[in-house]
Amino acid sequence: MSFSLRPRGLHGALCAALVLAVSPLAAHAETGADGWLRYAPTKLAAKVPAQIQVLGSAAQIKSAGSELQRGLKAMSGHAPAAVSGEGGKGTVLVGTYAQVKAQLPAWQSPSHAVPGSYQIKAVEHAGHTDWVVAGADARGTLYGAFALLEQLGEQPQRAAIDATSSPSAPIRWVDEWDNPDGSIERGYAGRSIFFDKGHVRADLSRVGDYARLLASVGINGCNVNNVNASPKMLTPQMIAGLARIADAMRPWGVRIAISVDLRSPQEIGGLDTFNPKDPRVIAWWQSKVDALYQAIPDFAGFTVKADSEGQPGPSQYGLSPAAAANMLAKALAPHGGVVMYRAFVYNHHLDWHNAKADRARAAYDIFHPLDGKFDNNVVVQIKNGPIDFQVREPASPLFAGLRKTNQAIELEVTQEYTGQQRQTVYLVPMWKATLDFDMHAEGRHTPVKSIVEGKAFDRPLGGYVAVSNVGLDTNWMRNPLAMANLWGYARLAWNPDLSAKTISSNWTRLTFGTDPVVVDTVNQVLLPSWRTYEDYTGPLGLQTLTNILGPHYGPAPQSQEHNGWGQWFRATHKGVGMDRTVATGTGYIGQYPPQVAAMFESKQSTPDDLMLFMHHVPYGYTLHNGKSVIQTLYDLHYTGAQKAQGFVDAWKKLHGRIDDARYEKVLKIQRYQAAYAIVWRDAVTRYFHKMSGIADAMGRVGHYPDRITGEQMKRVGYTSHKLKYFENASHGQAQVCLKRATCTASATFHRPAGTYNLGVQYFDVRTGTSHFTLKLNGKTISHWTADATLPGTTISGDTSTRHLMRAVRLKPGDTITLVGQPQGGEPAPFDYLVAYPTSRQSKMHD
Ligand code: GCU
Repeated sequence: MSFSLRPRGLHGALCAALVLAVSPLAAHAETGADGWLRYAPTKLAAKVPAQIQVLGSAAQIKSAGSELQRGLKAMSGHAPAAVSGEGGKGTVLVGTYAQVKAQLPAWQSPSHAVPGSYQIKAVEHAGHTDWVVAGADARGTLYGAFALLEQLGEQPQRAAIDATSSPSAPIRWVDEWDNPDGSIERGYAGRSIFFDKGHVRADLSRVGDYARLLASVGINGCNVNNVNASPKMLTPQMIAGLARIADAMRPWGVRIAISVDLRSPQEIGGLDTFNPKDPRVIAWWQSKVDALYQAIPDFAGFTVKADSEGQPGPSQYGLSPAAAANMLAKALAPHGGVVMYRAFVYNHHLDWHNAKADRARAAYDIFHPLDGKFDNNVVVQIKNGPIDFQVREPASPLFAGLRKTNQAIELEVTQEYTGQQRQTVYLVPMWKATLDFDMHAEGRHTPVKSIVEGKAFDRPLGGYVAVSNVGLDTNWMRNPLAMANLWGYARLAWNPDLSAKTISSNWTRLTFGTDPVVVDTVNQVLLPSWRTYEDYTGPLGLQTLTNILGPHYGPAPQSQEHNGWGQWFRATHKGVGMDRTVATGTGYIGQYPPQVAAMFESKQSTPDDLMLFMHHVPYGYTLHNGKSVIQTLYDLHYTGAQKAQGFVDAWKKLHGRIDDARYEKVLKIQRYQAAYAIVWRDAVTRYFHKMSGIADAMGRVGHYPDRITGEQMKRVGYTSHKLKYFENASHGQAQVCLKRATCTASATFHRPAGTYNLGVQYFDVRTGTSHFTLKLNGKTISHWTADATLPGTTISGDTSTRHLMRAVRLKPGDTITLVGQPQGGEPAPFDYLVAYPTSRQSKMHD
């Protein structure tokens, strides 16, 4: 829903006119709802034809026509007039290749055209210029319309209209992990746009808006519910609701799919089994599929998560994934549907004590022997790496392990392990690293992209899937900059050869405007953000090092070890890393084709970025960068946190250059991220300091001269509370106010007089709203409420956050007092005070 200025009466109209005249930015109250489809008013070099003729009656072609009118009107101020025949004037002709050709014989239609391809072209004809917006099919026409609008919006000064394009792969889907009750697993932007209270929502306007956004970047499928699927998805009421979702998305060429629970015949079908070989089970699925197609003639198919993380599957009957996948595939095949069978199958009760146990091996071990056994309308959907969307993983060896099976790569837009849209992490460079990775299958050049697109092994189907998890929040995602990931994913799915910078620059021009300073600045934040996040979380292939037993958000390296989940990095007092070699380790490396396996098997040829994913080494081991593993870990965490501070300064350059609403929203996120990077830095370095017993050569780890910890303060009412993971607070403890309505903690300032930034590191637990007051010599200088909705429900690394006051005058002898008032079960918890001079040049402050 976009916010529009509705002036009331003459006064309002005058005011609005004045605002428009004075400040073009203020005229656009930006909510982010339009994403990149803002169609900001601009001066176009190209002369927009006076008329538009929409050929044919397909829903997507009609959408193409109305979108062109909408976009051209918004950008140029004039919508071309809709006509039904040649009117002797320049006309935008909108239709399939065949339809346009029939209307305009002078135009040469492209000869080879896969579904979804388009051409946009200015054609001189009978003394005027027509614009052809033509597609190989109705969807292609729609993509052409968006491509034209994108070009005009992004490069308004370009007069030539001439582009031909085709998608790299037939499957370009997004998955939404929405539940019928309206919650979203790993969704960070509010509730479901599809479901509420067990039903499909009555108002599906956001679904239509979303499909429009998706169509504008060539996405043609949307799996609408959680892979941990509810059997409810197949009830007659739900199917009727799904038909309404499909109706809302169809005009935009987005077909819907659903995730199914293989147990459904038992759960809602009244059968006593879900054995995929049982004729009653087969008949049950057949009848459900028929009912689905009755309601949704263009239904795309099923996604299946089975034998994984508690989801039941064919293994219960001694059967393989192929047996289950093919059973469903046979029911879908006559209707043109597909089965996306996820390769995310593993045992999460692995034996930590078994040095050969390795979760990373699971997908290949299970699916490689089944190569060639899947029906032609089955696609094995493989996460980019062998674990689970960590900040860095090698490409899954399964990509080269399936040669007679269709494949799709599964990426994660929603940033589950990469900051949950509370931190800016632009993932396109990470995805490209995998897509461009050469698997050397059969000794040939076989980058992952060529495999998933079906080209490397000549497969009929394949492509891209991303877990997107947009929500009802106006902006679709919590962070306006997170939308660059949705856009970027779709761009790569269409053309994986685009560069990360081209993708972010194009997105920025459409989302924030074409001012080169804006584009450069947004790039300064986006492009290094993945590496930065990796540096202050889990570098060297350690994985994200987040709290995997909690919300997957804050630091908790310990949570990854000593349990059955298998996200281990096996840190001891002597060394760190998973030995995945064939020679001495789990043998995982042997799953790659020989050339890649040889590279990873040897430490000499394993890149530093993946060293600890592939090898167990002593802390003193010298990396290719010339430094020891332990010092590299310390250094990367400090430089990473420093770089995160730099994003705040970069973003500030946009003040006045973009709208205030989004400027402020992102500034707040960058400030939070800058402070939170310090929480990460401290937790991970403390942990490895303790494990290794090796001091930081730079003397930073364990020494925080700008801090006064709660324990060192004079406390009235506050007591120490031990955290589950020591690394998440000074001395492993928080200060909590448990028995009183108000507690205080005071300290005397002993540093030279000057201007300081003064911070309080406290814990903001989702379930409570404590109040804090900061006093200087008895006088209140700041008051705030801990009412953020950070992911954690405990006093932990997830909830550690900072309140910072800038430029406070302090002198020796000053008394700083923190007053905490618990509320809602949250005991006004805090960790330390920090004060550093504003004049300090280094960004590496505390
Ligand atoms: C991750 C995620 C789960 C999800 C799973 C999956 O483990 O944390 O919420 O269900 O991936 O991809 O199936």
